[in-house]
Amino acid sequence: MRIGFIGTGNMGGAILKGYANSSASDGNEILIHNKLTEHNSIMAEAMSLSGFANTKIRICNDNKDLATQSDIIILGVKPSNVDDVLREIAPAAGKIIVSMAAGTSIESMEGFLNEASAGSGDTAKIIRIMPNTPAQVGEAMTAMCRNANVSDEDFALAKTIFDSIGRAEEVSEDLIDCVIGVSGSSPAYTFMYLEALAKAAVSNGMAPDKARVFACQAVIGAAKLALESKETLEQLRINVCSPGGTTIEAVKKLQANGFMDDVTEAFQAAVDRSKEMTAQ
Ligand SMILES: NC(=O)c1ccc[n+]([C@@H]2O[C@H](COP(=O)([O-])OP(=O)(O)OC[C@H]3O[C@@H](n4cnc5c(N)ncnc54)[C@H](OP(=O)(O)O)[C@@H]3O)[C@@H](O)[C@H]2O)c1
Repeated sequence: MRIGFIGTGNMGGAILKGYANSSASDGNEILIHNKLTEHNSIMAEAMSLSGFANTKIRICNDNKDLATQSDIIILGVKPSNVDDVLREIAPAAGKIIVSMAAGTSIESMEGFLNEASAGSGDTAKIIRIMPNTPAQVGEAMTAMCRNANVSDEDFALAKTIFDSIGRAEEVSEDLIDCVIGVSGSSPAYTFMYLEALAKAAVSNGMAPDKARVFACQAVIGAAKLALESKETLEQLRINVCSPGGTTIEAVKKLQANGFMDDVTEAFQAAVDRSKEMTAQ
């Protein structure tokens, strides 16, 4: 199978590296194309330096060339470039096209394809995804949705790519804005929480490097426990709070300062912005 990546910047590049580094890519060929020629060679060199020399990677001359040769085409371009790229690859619209562009609906992508080549949008197999940057370390949370032309078999094939960079789940497209709030943008809020924890540890005498490790491992551990436990998140919190102990004092302070409301409002701001982008 040939997987083509159009645009290997931050997000497309993270998915490409995660996939190339996993057994899911064994026996498959990866094709790449960016707008600037030097970015193609920088990416190819970075991949070979990172030990992906065994993965067969080919740089294509242009997007059309890549689309013609690929079975699955992954668009890692900015939302403002999706229109142009889809028009370029419209003749290859029979392939599975995966887009990660925020605020770009499946319907609008079908429309761009139709404008370029009448009817191609009606038959195109389009999968819309919303990944997040932990893809760089194989821990992405990727939401996937599809149009009616994508069969279960096509979908399962594409899902192997996103399962290989973390966890992937199918959702209906009307949940994509919610996904942005809960996983697409949320690494940023988690980094803020880590920053505050590590800074507080440093001001209590811990070396910065150590403070970062302690804060990060505590978050990884809590998340793993929450994923594996059958108890509610509320109960998991209560379990840590012994009466008269230390944690209950921290939790009381967070509650008094509106921590939960702050997170809810931040989440909603990301969701509202996503809806605004889709409407533009
Ligand atoms: N960053 C995130 O956390 C995140 C999370 C979820 C979804 N996304 C989505 O991921 C997409 C990419 O975001 P990003 O942050 O990775 O952007 P980025 O770093 O700017 O990467 C965009 C890539 O697209 C390439 N490109 C632009 N126009 C092209 C064209 N006509 N043909 C071929 N390649 C072209 C660029 O190549 P050149 O450098 O050569 O111009 C660049 O490699 C966006 O749609 C965004 O909504 C991002």
